[in-house]
Amino acid sequence: MVASNKSWIRLCELDQVPADHCINVYVNGQRLVIARCEDSAHVLQGYCSHMLFYLKDAKIDGCVVTCNLHGSQFDVRDGSVVRWTEAASGKVLEDIKEKKRLRSYETEVRDGIVFLAWATSDPDKVKVKF
Ligand code: FES
Repeated sequence: MVASNKSWIRLCELDQVPADHCINVYVNGQRLVIARCEDSAHVLQGYCSHMLFYLKDAKIDGCVVTCNLHGSQFDVRDGSVVRWTEAASGKVLEDIKEKKRLRSYETEVRDGIVFLAWATSDPDKVKVKF
């Protein structure tokens, strides 16, 4: 269910989203990526939280995306950090995991179509570009 100030925006067919790497999508000029995870798709910020490297073409294995620059890994379902590139342990690592989570967006797949929940009451004004 989407709050009243949000609308479902059609992005693409699920079959257009590769299983093994992220693809870019621009929504009102914001650079995002779509990542597939089995029969679902998820929309995340378009750049890594380590050093802002673009996640376009980042490899996906299962539901984990790996940044092409230094190898940090994130769960595409919620953006959580799976592995951080630099040596860290204990409380430092826990802080990193909390602070460096990728922003994830509410996404649904219905009848083979990927939809994104977007904060707008006028979906006709939302521009989607690949
Ligand atoms: S920029 Fe992604 S791991 Fe460094």
